[in-house]
Amino acid sequence: MSIKNRREQWSSRWAFILVATGAAAGLGNIWKFPYVVGESGGGAFILVYLVAIALVALPILAAELLLGRLGNHNVIDSLRRLAVGRGYSAHWSKLGWIGLLAVFIVLSFYGVVGGWTIAYAYYALSGALSAGGAAPAEHFGVLFGRTTGTPVQALGWQTAFMVATALVVGSGVRHGIERLCRWLMPLLFVLLVCLVVHAALSNGYFGVACRFLFAADVSKLTGESVLSAVGHAFFTLSIGVGAMLTFGSYLPERVGLTATAATVAGLDTLVALLAGLAIFPVVFAHGMEPAAGPGLVFVSLPIAFDAMPAGQLLGIAFFALLFVAAITSAPSMLEPMVEYVRERGTGSRWRATVLVVCAVWVLGVAQVMSFSAWSDVRAFGRNLFELSDFLVSNILLPLGGLLIALFAGWMLSPTQTNGRLGIAGSFLHGVWRFSLRFVAPLALLLVLVSGLR
Ligand code: PHE
Repeated sequence: MSIKNRREQWSSRWAFILVATGAAAGLGNIWKFPYVVGESGGGAFILVYLVAIALVALPILAAELLLGRLGNHNVIDSLRRLAVGRGYSAHWSKLGWIGLLAVFIVLSFYGVVGGWTIAYAYYALSGALSAGGAAPAEHFGVLFGRTTGTPVQALGWQTAFMVATALVVGSGVRHGIERLCRWLMPLLFVLLVCLVVHAALSNGYFGVACRFLFAADVSKLTGESVLSAVGHAFFTLSIGVGAMLTFGSYLPERVGLTATAATVAGLDTLVALLAGLAIFPVVFAHGMEPAAGPGLVFVSLPIAFDAMPAGQLLGIAFFALLFVAAITSAPSMLEPMVEYVRERGTGSRWRATVLVVCAVWVLGVAQVMSFSAWSDVRAFGRNLFELSDFLVSNILLPLGGLLIALFAGWMLSPTQTNGRLGIAGSFLHGVWRFSLRFVAPLALLLVLVSGLR
């Protein structure tokens, strides 16, 4: 089959850093990270998460970028070419299918939550994010239930989010994805810093939040929280699914991979920690539960904003931030699928985009319905939305990560990796290979085995 390989490239190293940070820093950092930290007891979880980022996730991120650069095609054909070129079986390209399946599922539920972010940004702007004298806990609980549980409304928001994502990806690597991130990533940082500064200056609970986030009481760690920290390190860096591999395939040759990967991992972690510092002082000041689960930012925060002076402004800033985080991440899930269809199909980016988005949208409709009419359709005690999150975070991401670590660690020769990573011949190159061959596979096997139990 002929492959249409007219490939675009990012315009510079910094452009790529913004794009990859945009992909990594998403709902995982601002919506999910705070509530999993809350559920897993704060500082000790963060400590494990940081160690997992440095020892397991960062080496795999660099490996994915390298595989993309060496393969220079969509995820499936990159892996096939590399495996066959080194005398291994073409079946290794199946690893790419695991990745494409994972991004297909993630995007189908990301679109649902992305839709909620548009809804809440709209509520905040239009002044509807106010209890107006009603009991706030009940009011915002009902509002969240209505937003997620009224199919027509929820489908409308989800469709709007998917159309926006399609427009970005359809416009191209540079004109769509890069341009979006160049504008929105600085805005994301400005909004986040404003919210943290406001939390630090305006309420007396900033110190409490800092202690909650940074004082690690290791005795609070359970096997489950360790594994959830490793799983989250993967989810937050978008690794193990071929997204970073695809983005790496558009990197100009002159860009050093290791320093770039480290910068992206550092910025992504910064976004998660700043989000914690913006959210927890508000949660504590209003006597709310840090372990409130997925409703933490959609129910608890609006209650708190409602009680604060300038609460409407804070609500607008926060939900704009959440939307920006989501819309800069979603293209990284769509792009690997679009690039595969484009290269294997007619070569038209728009046609590939429309085709893939329609398919994702259909699964997304089922995800939306799992909050209303189909909430009773359950497997393994979970509805479709919960099952998808479980399948991706506990199985597909660690499995993809494990195979990528083995592929890059054992199948690429040191001469192939040396130099290309930007750490030629150095001690770090040895550490990187050691982590990919032993540390990461072992850690991921543990996550997988426990995730399947
Ligand atoms: N890293 C993204 C986030 O934190 C989620 C994501 C996962 C994106 C996998 C792409 C692939 O929200």
